[in-house]
Amino acid sequence: MTPIVPPGSPRCTAARFGEGRGPSLRRLRGPTLVAGLFLAACGSGAGDAAPRESAADTSGELPTAGTERFPLVPASAAIDQVNRLPRNPLTEAIEADSATAERIRFGYRVARDPRAFGAAEFVGNDLACFSCHMNGGQREGALPLVGVAGLFPQFRNRDDRMVSLRERIDGCFMRSMNGTPPPPDHPVALALQAYIHWLSEGQPEGESPPWRGQNRIPEEARLAIEDLDLSKGRRLYADKCAQCHGDDGQGLDVGLATPAPLWGDRSWNDGAGASRIWTFAGFIRYAMPLNAPGSLTDEESQHIAAWVNSQDRPVFPTKAADYPGGGRPGDAVYDTLVFPVHPLKARLGADRP
Ligand code: HEC
Ligand code: HEC
Repeated sequence: MTPIVPPGSPRCTAARFGEGRGPSLRRLRGPTLVAGLFLAACGSGAGDAAPRESAADTSGELPTAGTERFPLVPASAAIDQVNRLPRNPLTEAIEADSATAERIRFGYRVARDPRAFGAAEFVGNDLACFSCHMNGGQREGALPLVGVAGLFPQFRNRDDRMVSLRERIDGCFMRSMNGTPPPPDHPVALALQAYIHWLSEGQPEGESPPWRGQNRIPEEARLAIEDLDLSKGRRLYADKCAQCHGDDGQGLDVGLATPAPLWGDRSWNDGAGASRIWTFAGFIRYAMPLNAPGSLTDEESQHIAAWVNSQDRPVFPTKAADYPGGGRPGDAVYDTLVFPVHPLKARLGADRP
């Protein structure tokens, strides 16, 4: 990997999100692309709320996944493509009345930088929607949001009832963003739905697109909770993740992007999907590490997920009310109804190398 520049280096400001982001990827293709990109570690700038405008649209030049109608950034794309957007609502003509088009653009901005674009009061950590739903929700293997609007309302076990798209988004606000849901008619709520609908235009209603649900560890590869190895997870974390997410999981500014905290008070809470081992490992397996995505095995991803989820994070107070109809997942290590004692924290003392 390209060397990391020490904090305080002048390069830190040279390649931030935004207009002055340095040479476009278009001009840096081929060997120059690899040689010309760098990661600048600029200390903990994860809370920096500078608006991130004008992501470069290089979709015409780089390999694309998905379909012609629904182009996606391929799961193999590394950090040099972190700002790539196959479809950019800020630059693309939107076929809708001007109020709807404005709402779609606003939804994109909120999802990319909620604290700078009117959603600060609903967010309780340093994440953005696009921290996990990467590349504007238009990336294969990183929980893509393309083509999912028509699948709602949908029955969800966690709620034991039908859930609308708005309620599904609220779930991510309360858990992944450790916040509170915006009121149903709030501009933020309407805008996020508008953006996700825009990403789904033309997808047959009720039909799950083939790129959905790919962030999964197959059942036969899942490790039992007692077989998760925290020492292995810790070593792998130090080796594969810490250079971008920090030694203490706190998140860093790496110049092209700000990978967010993976634990601690500014991360997702223990009611989030990412607090479940197999769910989280499915994200790591296909989306990370962003300098070599896809390079970890199912097993390694689970040890890392175990290490990360053995650390402290915010508490989701009402998680005991989840799954009222039963069927609580067996990888929810924070769920006191499944594990009266957190099985990884309990082992931490003994396992710590
Ligand atoms: C910490 C990571 C994380 C963050 C941050 C996050 N989400 Fe999610 N989101 C997930 C996971 C995990 C799922 C479940 C995916 C699955 O079931 O395959 C999900 C599911 C969804 C879905 C349903 C997708 C589908 O295919 O059914 C929507 C819509 C969604 N999120 C929107 C948002 C929005 C909007 C935000 C910001 C307010 C957000 N998410 C923030 C992790 C995250
Ligand atoms: C080369 C830098 C890099 C490495 C190495 C890396 N990540 Fe990331 N990671 C990122 C970036 C950048 C994002 C945010 C993507 C975005 O905003 O589009 C991210 C996002 C994430 C997210 C979404 C939620 C959050 O808090 O940011 C998780 C979870 C994650 N990474 C886990 C990992 C794990 C686990 C490893 C090690 C296996 C890892 N990452 C290695 C750069 C990296």
